Amino acid sequence: GAPVEVDISKLEPGQLLRVEWRGKPVWVVRRTDAVLEEMKANQDKLKDPGSSEVDQQPDYAKNEYRSLKPELLVAVGLCTHLGCSPTYLPGNFSEQVEGMNYGFFCPCHGSKFDMAGRVFKDVPAPLNLVIPPYHFKDDTTILVG
Ligand code: FES
Repeated sequence: GAPVEVDISKLEPGQLLRVEWRGKPVWVVRRTDAVLEEMKANQDKLKDPGSSEVDQQPDYAKNEYRSLKPELLVAVGLCTHLGCSPTYLPGNFSEQVEGMNYGFFCPCHGSKFDMAGRVFKDVPAPLNLVIPPYHFKDDTTILVG
């Protein structure tokens, strides 16, 4: 299918935009500096902080933020356990992981993911969330697919 165009010009810091790509939910989230800092500070709680699993992201997203630009997360919003859609918890993720304010929680069996879609240790989901292929058409437009 054709790539899905996403206008991010009005995406506020911390906000999540949900689009559909190939029948799957794709999230686009604008991460703040504070979010990037807490991701770095809590890497030891993750199963695969370096994204070593080959098929979970394109090569250009094989970096510490799993993205083209640090401030923007683009991820397929489906849990790698049994495919439920995790809930975005902006500002209240610390109820799930101490010391972290932002993250994703899967209501089905309790898997937890950080703001790069990286899975935490000791949860049922085996892998980080999938990062779909995407690129920037211009500064405020993303093409997913
Ligand atoms: Fe997400 Fe089971 S489907 S934890």
